[in-house]
Amino acid sequence: MTIHIGAKPGDIAETVLLPGDPYRAKWAAETFLEDVKLVNEVRGMLGFTGTWKGNRVTIQGSGMGMPSLSIYANELIKSYDAKTLIRIGSCGGMQDKVNVRDVILATACSSLSTPSRGIFKELQFAPTCDFELLHNAYKTAEKRGVPTHVGGIYSADVFYDERPDLNEEMTRHGILAVEMEAAELYILAARYGRRALAVLTVSDHLITGEALPADQREQSFGDMVEIALEAAFA
Ligand code: ADE
Repeated sequence: MTIHIGAKPGDIAETVLLPGDPYRAKWAAETFLEDVKLVNEVRGMLGFTGTWKGNRVTIQGSGMGMPSLSIYANELIKSYDAKTLIRIGSCGGMQDKVNVRDVILATACSSLSTPSRGIFKELQFAPTCDFELLHNAYKTAEKRGVPTHVGGIYSADVFYDERPDLNEEMTRHGILAVEMEAAELYILAARYGRRALAVLTVSDHLITGEALPADQREQSFGDMVEIALEAAFA
């Protein structure tokens, strides 16, 4: 057990999917895994372990924002020896070519700051994903016919952004979408020699103002979970 995860040693699989929302962790585990067991409910941040095509997987909520994700990813890596960590979550589109429902595979994350800033100081470290996971995820998305974009994203500190000029610069420099967790996940994976990837669904769009209707969220979220699972075990 750790401060924020009540799972017993061995309860957490080597492969962990990390949705921000604990209820999405529950839905994904109940929908895609077999022999599902609740392994964490500390602070309501639900985590489940089960099997997918015979492979053990944990789906653990990470909360919103990098400080929260940092807590769960640190404990999963250092105390439970998680080896493959895949964020599954939503993002806001930042390019005309990106549509709501599309999937984004994040190669690299720009940010203003991360919880690791104190370590890097003046160094502008470029957090990047694991190539093997990316390659597997892209092949799977292509095979499934899911519209998918591969490229850089922006990991923001705030959802209610007061800097439209900064978002414009992100768009001008080809950033595909904004979310709030992946940069720190990639940094921790780099620090501890683990594999990480963010597989994201576009839930809203900063340029068009469009948002995914609630009744269509489940289908889009399902595509993302299956891409993440295929990528982990390909
Ligand atoms: N996650 C989903 N949509 C987002 C947005 N517009 N900004 C930040 N994170 C998001």
